[in-house]
Amino acid sequence: MNSDLPGFYKMGLEDRLNEIKKIAHLTDEETNSLRTGGINWQTADLMIENVIGTTKMPIGIATYFTINKKDYVIPMAIEEPSVIAAASHAAKLARQGGGFTATSTEPMMIGQIQVIGIDDIRYAEKMVLANANNIKKIANKNDSTLIKLGGGAKGVETKILETERGRMLIVHLLVDVRDAMGANAVNTMCESVAPYIEELTGGKTRLKIISNLAVKRTVKAKAVWKKTVVGADVIDGILDAYAFAKADPYRCATNNKGCMNGIDAVMISTGNDFRAIEAGAHAFAALNGYKPLVKYELKEDDLVGTIELPMAVGIVGGTTKTNPIARIALKILGIKTARELGEIAACVGLANNFAALRAMVTDGIQKGHMKLHAKNIAITAGAKDTDVYVVAQKMAAEGNVSVSRATELLKELQREETEKTGNE
Ligand code: MEV
Repeated sequence: MNSDLPGFYKMGLEDRLNEIKKIAHLTDEETNSLRTGGINWQTADLMIENVIGTTKMPIGIATYFTINKKDYVIPMAIEEPSVIAAASHAAKLARQGGGFTATSTEPMMIGQIQVIGIDDIRYAEKMVLANANNIKKIANKNDSTLIKLGGGAKGVETKILETERGRMLIVHLLVDVRDAMGANAVNTMCESVAPYIEELTGGKTRLKIISNLAVKRTVKAKAVWKKTVVGADVIDGILDAYAFAKADPYRCATNNKGCMNGIDAVMISTGNDFRAIEAGAHAFAALNGYKPLVKYELKEDDLVGTIELPMAVGIVGGTTKTNPIARIALKILGIKTARELGEIAACVGLANNFAALRAMVTDGIQKGHMKLHAKNIAITAGAKDTDVYVVAQKMAAEGNVSVSRATELLKELQREETEKTGNE
């Protein structure tokens, strides 16, 4: 598979879908799902409460990605213009530096059990640690499938917290969740060990819940943007932008939002819990004061970007089963493990951060943004078919993209059209 697809963005919708059909060996049913599908109405009713309908989001393909020497076409679900083009462009530029490399840890999640009301908290802590094997055994009774796959509860850690409500013992249950996101498995295990922990500590357990700050389930990804490819000015500009984000949380939040544009888009297309990923990413970025998720440094005049963040993603369970589009997205990615999906998502986050910074230190972000945004605005003003393109192009050329200008242009077009038909 080759993700180097020049001109993919210029293809018509059907041709583009057909290209991906060929690459990913999609069936007719799957391409039809991409055209019209999504979660079916009745299935939706089984997923959440008080259902009245479903919603749709565009899915596009990011091209040019090569990760650990393997090419990927990456489905991204997002409503914001430019994000997919930006990721693809950054990947194209990184390709000339060897593409992305990524590594990840074992899929180890942390479940937290909060214990209050303990008389001798140091003794209670010792009791929990001394009986870690029993705690793991009780936890592992819940999920034989996970154990068969090599996962399950693997460790027990403790900490004592001084809080405004007094001292608490916090027990961390470390669970290898294999290819699942893991929330259900971890939460069930935490609840199942709680009575035994109460017995051991003489305390009362309150919360038994997964932590989204998945510091033991992280991904690191890296790319090199060569000076000969992107230019010294761009590299200088990106290093200035990075310094700004490091020094200022107001900038840092937006900088990290740029990474999450790409990461969330991969999460949504593959049916993953993007809120969990968001929570984990920002908490991780804030561990030692809120910092950029991507770090940049110069190496032999080239720009090296690295990203590290928790990545609790799943390819089994959850909506990956009920959402047909998620299944198709995973098929397009051609991945076998959740770790591989996490590594891809981190690379997309890195690419989107690089692309946003590059755009801002060169043409500014609006130029690319406005082209597609102008189309949306033209549609909002009531333009249809080819008028959408004509109105959008005019607004972008004028640098005045607004519903009022689109309405004026549309009226002009309609006047011209009436005059033309009158003259014929
Ligand atoms: C917009 O969705 C994302 C950016 O604001 C990111 C950034 O400022 O780095 C362009």
